Amino acid sequence: MIDIRDRVRNKQLHAKIVSAEEAAAFIKPNMNIGTSGFTPAGYPKAVPLALAARMKNEPFTVNLWTGASVGKELDGALAEVGGIKRRMPYQTNKNLRNAINSGSVEYCDLHLSESAQLARYGFMGGKIDVAIVEACAITEEGHIIPTTSMGNTASYVQSADVVIVEVNTTQPLELEGMHDVYVPLDPPHRLPIPVVKAADRIGTTYIPCGLDKIKYIVPCDIKDDVRPFGAIDENSHKMSEHIINFFNEEIKAGRLPKNLLPLQSGVGNVANAVISGFVDSDFTDLEVYTEVIQDGMFDLADAGKLKFASGTSFSPSPDGLNRFYTNIKEYREKMMLRPQEIANSPEVARRIGIIAMNTAIEMDIYGNVNSTHIMGSKMMNGIGGSGDFARNAYLTCFFSTSTAKDGAISAIVPMCSHIDHTEHDTDIFVTEIGLADLRGLSPRERARVIINNCAHPDYRPMLLDYLERAEKATKKAQTPHIMDEALSWHSRFLATGTMKK
Ligand code: COA
Repeated sequence: MIDIRDRVRNKQLHAKIVSAEEAAAFIKPNMNIGTSGFTPAGYPKAVPLALAARMKNEPFTVNLWTGASVGKELDGALAEVGGIKRRMPYQTNKNLRNAINSGSVEYCDLHLSESAQLARYGFMGGKIDVAIVEACAITEEGHIIPTTSMGNTASYVQSADVVIVEVNTTQPLELEGMHDVYVPLDPPHRLPIPVVKAADRIGTTYIPCGLDKIKYIVPCDIKDDVRPFGAIDENSHKMSEHIINFFNEEIKAGRLPKNLLPLQSGVGNVANAVISGFVDSDFTDLEVYTEVIQDGMFDLADAGKLKFASGTSFSPSPDGLNRFYTNIKEYREKMMLRPQEIANSPEVARRIGIIAMNTAIEMDIYGNVNSTHIMGSKMMNGIGGSGDFARNAYLTCFFSTSTAKDGAISAIVPMCSHIDHTEHDTDIFVTEIGLADLRGLSPRERARVIINNCAHPDYRPMLLDYLERAEKATKKAQTPHIMDEALSWHSRFLATGTMKK
């Protein structure tokens, strides 16, 4: 077994160091398990792998609550052995996605800022039975120093009677001090969250736990299973250019300061590429108040353009993770992780005037956005934090390439097959074709701007034709639709493999 005694600073706790198998034996069928982890960052690995091995021989299920998506050793391993009954609040794992879309896992897709509170109130199937948490170290007092994510960990530790801590020796001790742990009181006792700038500290650098709550401590030397991003392609460059030009115009018009407003940037390839594009912009002194800190943020820091970034997880590519670990002493000065309840707080987002930049699966001509469902039915990942920011930001931007699946799908459709963000939440749409500024427009005005500025030329005439016929059929109603036809593009794709006629 790896020696973790130097990281478990209270000698009394050394007696609780056990193997992953021994700790996993504590888990009983139907338990509610709350874990650390937000994206493939800072999630427990050894105990879930041991639990999955046990479930293979002795099938049973548990309910799994995390911060967001987690790595293959947790979601992947448990989904593979059919070990998850209920799952919340977000996922990106292929095995789990298949289990969700075939009815074997009940998936509760939630606004990430709200998930800890729902769990504290017992809405997720009762109380948390056990929290399994990755740590860099455990303090003399039995408090937990988190690793590469904060997520819902502090809240789960607070709610659970029993805590299993995985001390991961691949996580550098320099992470200590990079967290700001603050769990709000529940209503009616909640106080204002005193964050005014991304760099403001309001809590502790550790998760309060205590010696008695810790049941087992397990050594682990498995690295975060971070994923490479897709290459930054021509389309992402164009989207980045469109938004940078737009921001420059807003600065000229006096609606944005020169260093913009605090930036939030979503998950995935497109969001990462758009942020990387800022490196070549003239913006400096950028403040970031976001959920995930991906490679693009390290690019901004290295280019000297970043004032401070606060988030709830470090979610870089494998190269990005090496860069982060190598330069952690410099990044420590400019980056901080908070619980997702604070990083994604709708109240903070509205008050500090965030610029929210998230990716859509599809957008419709009236300004609604689908972030979660493929062809109306199949869950992709989940809403994640996009709704926390989209409804509350100063400026809400959604990005997507204008087509998907080699042009067989238009990302601009007459009606979204599922809606996560309504026309009332969205301000700016960006595709590689161009940018649509929807602020202050009526639905029929929005439709023309979206079709003309953002739709792919292959689909633009079809969309204009639909709009004109819908206006005629409804005598220019507020939001014109031909109900038999509104979702026919999706039906056509399902029947023929393309939305084209
Ligand atoms: N119809 C069907 N499939 C589509 C599609 C559409 N309209 N648009 C995209 N896709 C597919 C792509 O083809 C790709 O499929 P593949 O994995 O088989 O290649 C997949 O969806 C991902 O698309 P990609 O263009 O690589 O985008 P991404 O990695 O940037 O992810 C989302 C896009 C929307 C799936 C992702 O951003 C997400 O899950 N968002 C919701 C949560 C969120 O916004 N969180 C941030 C909050 S801070």
